[in-house]
Amino acid sequence: MGFSTHHSPLARYKMSNETLQAVRGMNDILPDEAGLWLWFEEVVRDWLHSYGYRNIRMPLVEPTALFKRAIGEVTDIVEKEMYSFEDSLNGDQLTLRPEGTASCVRAVLQHNLLYNAPQRLYYSGQMFRHERPQKGRYRQFHQYGVEALGYAGPDIDAEQILMCARLWKKLGLRDVTLQLNTLGDSASRQRHREKLIAYFEQHQESLDADATRRLHSNPLRILDSKNPAMQELIAGAPRLMDELEPEALAHFAAVQEILTRHGVPFEINPRLVRGLDYYNRTVFEWVTTRLGAQGTICAGGRYDGLIEQIGGKPAPAIGFAMGVERLLALLQEDGMALPGPELDAYVVHQGELASGLAGLVAENLRDAGLRVALHCGGGSFKSQMKKADASGARVTIVIGDDEAQAQQVSVKPMQGGEQVRVSVQDAAETVIQFIEQE
Ligand code: HAM
Repeated sequence: MGFSTHHSPLARYKMSNETLQAVRGMNDILPDEAGLWLWFEEVVRDWLHSYGYRNIRMPLVEPTALFKRAIGEVTDIVEKEMYSFEDSLNGDQLTLRPEGTASCVRAVLQHNLLYNAPQRLYYSGQMFRHERPQKGRYRQFHQYGVEALGYAGPDIDAEQILMCARLWKKLGLRDVTLQLNTLGDSASRQRHREKLIAYFEQHQESLDADATRRLHSNPLRILDSKNPAMQELIAGAPRLMDELEPEALAHFAAVQEILTRHGVPFEINPRLVRGLDYYNRTVFEWVTTRLGAQGTICAGGRYDGLIEQIGGKPAPAIGFAMGVERLLALLQEDGMALPGPELDAYVVHQGELASGLAGLVAENLRDAGLRVALHCGGGSFKSQMKKADASGARVTIVIGDDEAQAQQVSVKPMQGGEQVRVSVQDAAETVIQFIEQE
């Protein structure tokens, strides 16, 4: 590398004395909010395990070709939302994952997990899409993804939907409704596609630019258009429902029958087509009207062709993913807020002897399972007590020279009550008693 007179962006920022900011659309989750995330993650993990799903963790970066092949070349995600780059060392084309299904299927095939065994799997973490940020829509967001691979029947479709309904109940979510549709199989979709193209070709003068571009590459997505001027044309378009094979219809009827048996209401929405190309048969979205335009909190469907498309032996599959930011926003709308892990004890100390003992006492308390902050950075007792107060700890352990010489500590309950002085050995027991009395 040669010496460059150009300054890096970082250096320019430093010189201009500006504060560095996170990338637009990528959020920090600060400690006050992280409590809710931690609680949510625990609830979701228990729920997934209660249905026999097992965790899988894939890289955040994959070959660009994987997403192109899985999601489809003519989709918003692949056309304009992927963070793609060339590996400067070897020229590989790479992409920050915009979703998890493609990676999950890739991993399952690469490690031969489907050999003679269907798989119920889940993953969680960041996804990246270069969308225009707004409330509920971010460039880095978090999903929980749930995939059942190697399952063909309507029973698993219904189970995944029932699972969701159970989670909403556990979380106390209000006002979410289920939209359901079937996309049929590839032959019927092909027939429908041809009819759509013929229909839109007859009305080319009424198509907007997006629709014209998609007319031959992805006419189904024209049905998704939000352009008011096109709604009448779309309403009159040939319907996939009219092309569906008896098997696909029977599958869809069976899913509905199971949902009805379990008392899960749904609305059939023939316009629900999803933004990724891998779907067939059952598709669903859980939506709320309480988050403005970004009201889909969870979405998924069957993708029976994807495994073969990525190079595996044909196998059916279905899955869904929920957007964590949107779910938590909905919970926060209802006033839900949870603090992060609380402290049981804050240890203040002054003097050399006391400071040495304080470290040992703090470790002893942690041995007993307590959550302890040891004051660091010195200062008067008064200022340390202020820190103890602000920490939210339930008791403060005070160690001065007096205590240290006697191998004792003072234990002060922060909610009021008598301070007591006990031996170092009895400190943990005393703290626990105070906490239990509260
Ligand atoms: P998706 O509909 O693209 O599906 O995303 C699933 C959910 O992720 C959405 O319903 C939404 O809650 C959340 N989400 C998507 N984009 C954003 C964003 N920019 N900001 C915030 N939240 C967002 C999939 O990703 C499929 N992989 C789901 C799936 C799994 N299908 C089968 N298996």
